[in-house]
Amino acid sequence: MEAWFPYFLEWGSMLLRWLHVTTAIAWIGSSFMFMHLDASLRKQKNMQPGVYGVSWQVHGGGFYEMSKYTLAPAVMPDHLTWHKWQSYWTWISGFSLLCWVYYGQSTFFLIDPAVMPLAPWQAAIVGIVALALGWIVYDLLCKSPVAKNDSLLALVGFGYVVLTSYVFTLLFSGRGALIHTGALMATMMTANVFFIIMPNQRKSVAALIAGQTPDPKWGKESKQRSTHNNYITLPVLFMMLSNHYPVTYSNARIIPALVTLVIIAGALVRYFYNMWHGDHDKAPWWAWFVAAAAIWAAFWVCMAASPGMRDVIGLGPAPPASMASANLPKAPADVVNVVSTRCAMCHAPEPVFEGIGEAPKGVLLDTPEHIAKFAPAIRAQAVMTHAMPPNNITEMTPQERAVLAKWLAGDKVAQK
Ligand code: HEC
Repeated sequence: MEAWFPYFLEWGSMLLRWLHVTTAIAWIGSSFMFMHLDASLRKQKNMQPGVYGVSWQVHGGGFYEMSKYTLAPAVMPDHLTWHKWQSYWTWISGFSLLCWVYYGQSTFFLIDPAVMPLAPWQAAIVGIVALALGWIVYDLLCKSPVAKNDSLLALVGFGYVVLTSYVFTLLFSGRGALIHTGALMATMMTANVFFIIMPNQRKSVAALIAGQTPDPKWGKESKQRSTHNNYITLPVLFMMLSNHYPVTYSNARIIPALVTLVIIAGALVRYFYNMWHGDHDKAPWWAWFVAAAAIWAAFWVCMAASPGMRDVIGLGPAPPASMASANLPKAPADVVNVVSTRCAMCHAPEPVFEGIGEAPKGVLLDTPEHIAKFAPAIRAQAVMTHAMPPNNITEMTPQERAVLAKWLAGDKVAQK
């Protein structure tokens, strides 16, 4: 491995994330925009034939009069903008990021040998197959008799997502489980656009051009899927951000409960806005209270399950962690010595450093096995850059960094 490769990995991760966040803003922004537009349509005098309603908007110094044709205009316009690439690129960039960070550096982020001792290539295959399978089962649900009833389908779909989050905790680390739950929901969203909404739209347009009436079931099916997309948007964003916050994933056992509460909160906030845009007077204000209660519950569930916080809130000491580390690679003694004195006060299951409640970013550096496991991250933070210790608060010396550098240059784990 070239010496610059880990540096390249970090830059690649940064650039992919930039792309991913940008495309996701464009996608979710346009999706919110159209939900709002739909809800703000009003009847007015002298509407064109086939127009269901009109919405007036002001933006950027001009006025827009937007009309919605429920089926299609009598004559197809020459220029028609399709909104699909925002969605596709969000998925493409997100999947690339998943491969780059989680499958490319899986010993660090994805694999927890105490859960399932997967090899990196196995972990990648399990993840990708799970995403594909997860979509197929959801799609079958949407095509089953359950789907005749929108509310029943929503409820079953909700239970299904929570179940998948549980299954992911049986395969991956907590962090890996939560990001895969988010990735599966996001895959469902883009696949809804790619496999259902777009083809149905194309069939309708083709029928209109041929002078036929489009089958109303196409529109109904698309509407059902796009409503799902709308309600899972906010929960997905939570899952995507969760990997930066170990307070959300450090105890994998509570992940299904967390996912349940976050979906309730996120979906209710969307529900409020969908109603509010339609008619301010009918806005369900109670939704905010229930959503806040769900987040409050999530906060407590996570805190009660956190090894570092149980004692603080009077639940007694945490049960001992499982020791499945008998034959894992270990860092050598000189490295352990440096890391124990300069890093482990913060990066431990129960940090002793003032103000640190949980191992930052889930990075544990308290045992020789953990130090070996996090080798690539230690390189990025303490050798390649001097980001850690923060502001060199624990006064790490250049000689100590050299010890790490020497180990990382020759270490098998670090070179994976
Ligand atoms: C004073 C407490 C403290 C000490 C000491 C400390 N860290 Fe950290 N570490 C943090 C915090 C806080 C973060 C989260 C930074 C952030 O949010 O960007 C972090 C994050 C990290 C990360 C994850 C970075 C990421 O973005 O994923 C690694 C790896 C890491 N530290 C390694 C180390 C190493 C190696 C040492 C010792 C050389 C060390 N830390 C010492 C507090 C500490």
